[in-house]
Amino acid sequence: MAALNTTEASISLPLKRVLVLSYSQTGQLTEITRRILAPLEQDSRFAVHIEPLRPVKPYPFPWGFFSFLDAFPESAHMVPPPLQPLSLSGDEDFDLVILPYQVWFLAPSHPIVAFLKHPLARKLLNGKPVVTVIACRNMWMLAQEKMKTLLKDCGARLLDNIALVDPSPTMASLWTTPFWLLSGKKDFLKLLPPAGVDQASIKAARRFGLALRDALYNNEERGVAPLLTGLRAADSNPHLLVSEKAATRSFYLWGKLLRAVGEPGQWRRYPFLVLYVIFLITLISTVVPLSLLIQSLLRPFMRRRFATLKQRFDLPSGSGTERMHQYEC
Ligand SMILES: Cc1cc2nc3c(=O)[nH]c(=O)nc-3n(C[C@H](O)[C@H](O)[C@H](O)COP(=O)(O)O)c2cc1C
Repeated sequence: MAALNTTEASISLPLKRVLVLSYSQTGQLTEITRRILAPLEQDSRFAVHIEPLRPVKPYPFPWGFFSFLDAFPESAHMVPPPLQPLSLSGDEDFDLVILPYQVWFLAPSHPIVAFLKHPLARKLLNGKPVVTVIACRNMWMLAQEKMKTLLKDCGARLLDNIALVDPSPTMASLWTTPFWLLSGKKDFLKLLPPAGVDQASIKAARRFGLALRDALYNNEERGVAPLLTGLRAADSNPHLLVSEKAATRSFYLWGKLLRAVGEPGQWRRYPFLVLYVIFLITLISTVVPLSLLIQSLLRPFMRRRFATLKQRFDLPSGSGTERMHQYEC
């Protein structure tokens, strides 16, 4: 067990303050965050502040068909509606920031973007080490690229990224996720695997909290090296990149049109949303499987290219498993 000698460490360690942002509709991301935080919360050497993000106009769950689609233009352009006032003043000094977020239309969800664009975010995050925690269907690579830009704008230092995804095949979760979000039921489509991150992965997320606790004991958050290597924190799938790029472009262009037509929630947008959903379903039933098929045929010739891409998107924490045995939960 690489866990440090806590008695020794606690003698010299001042209280470490950890800021955690929190927003979840189904409770999935809250549950994952809770698992990660447990080792820190159970230790008197840490003060964990959980800041709930509350949109002024709450998002519905389950979503209505139009309200769900109507969220994509502002997601693609990262112009979310505002949040209710935060409980923080911006003068607080945190040692580490844990930033959990879900992906909405291939971008970080509205509440987290609203937070990162809030004037307080820069004050709170400037110079601070950040660990991002993603829980989504399985397309998060380009959202994390957007997240990196948002963090950079706040002056934050991204140390680690944890990404937990729905383990079912892409072609299944492309259908089960929207049905979950529109019905509230994970197993709405009985013939397909249930939607969402599986319970075993959620439970095992505790390993990240244990490793963070040990790293904080050793002041490793002050350095530049990731704290969560060897724990399979982010196992990216570069074969989804073609689809992510195509869909991001389409969300952006159609989003521009929709934003020109009207404000979020206005009826004027609805005919265009219907048109878009037809386009989107065509895309999902053609481009995604086609791109996955072509890539599987080309796989033997493109191994090196995909390996390079995977290495890049797995960063900074990586998908290695060499420390898993130290933090088995
Ligand atoms: C409006 C909307 C768009 C979404 N788009 C994506 C997406 O592009 N990629 C993805 O992997 N998951 C996507 N999801 C799934 C979410 O990332 C997340 O897994 C799900 O909403 C549950 O999150 P929760 O913690 O808020 O309950 C989307 C969810 C919503 C509500």
